Amino acid sequence: MPRNRNILNVVAVCCAVLLGPTIAAAQDKPDPGAKAIATRHGFMKLVIWEAGPLFGMAKGIDTLPAATNDAPAHDLPVLFRLRRGLGLWKALYMDYAPFTPIPGADSQVNRGAYLVTGPGHCGECHTPRDLLGGPDADWAFSGSPAPEEKDSVPNITPHEDGIGDWSVRDITIALELGLLPGFDTFGGVMIPVQENMAKLTAEDREAIAAYLKSLPPKPSRWKK
Ligand code: HEC
Repeated sequence: MPRNRNILNVVAVCCAVLLGPTIAAAQDKPDPGAKAIATRHGFMKLVIWEAGPLFGMAKGIDTLPAATNDAPAHDLPVLFRLRRGLGLWKALYMDYAPFTPIPGADSQVNRGAYLVTGPGHCGECHTPRDLLGGPDADWAFSGSPAPEEKDSVPNITPHEDGIGDWSVRDITIALELGLLPGFDTFGGVMIPVQENMAKLTAEDREAIAAYLKSLPPKPSRWKK
């Protein structure tokens, strides 16, 4: 048994050494030699991931064949292409703190909070941004203009503008099957998100629903 544990430790250390750089890059940990990653990348949320799934993802990425195509040129506005400016942006908005459970919330709501704010990165679309493109925490999950689409991203707080009249079951059915109350279906960029949500366990979808229903209700500042 102790021998097995030693072997496991050796494997864990090797993984850390081999995959550490991939993980540090994914989380955009400070590295004076590396170029800053553009803010549209979801790295802000990767910081919140638990180590196990992050190792798994880094391992998966490292098995992919090297891409042979030329990367397309950036289409970001000039302001966001200045990498020195990105350092400033991160000083303003980047928080390297790991996930901290919500005091007083039960384990299901905390699991949902971890999934929504970390791997699910739901706020990257559903939280509006301020003038400098940082998430506007005061209006978290209350909806935002959709950058890629003509429409807006809906409010997913339990306000009447959002999902106030959805039950936990309505939310879990939507995440599992893409069917919304009123027989509508998800559209646009929410379709691939839902397809990934369908791969979670039922418990994790329920945890996400429980967390969304526990959020403070916020009115939407954007057209639904
Ligand atoms: C890539 C951007 C994006 C991400 C990430 C995202 N969403 Fe969405 N979401 C949308 C868009 C756009 C819609 C509206 C889709 C439509 O028009 O049917 C939407 C719709 C929804 C709705 C339906 C709201 C309503 O009133 O119809 C729910 C619930 C929802 N999202 C939950 C989530 C959850 C939970 C997550 C994280 C696991 C998430 N979304 C992540 C873009 C996103």
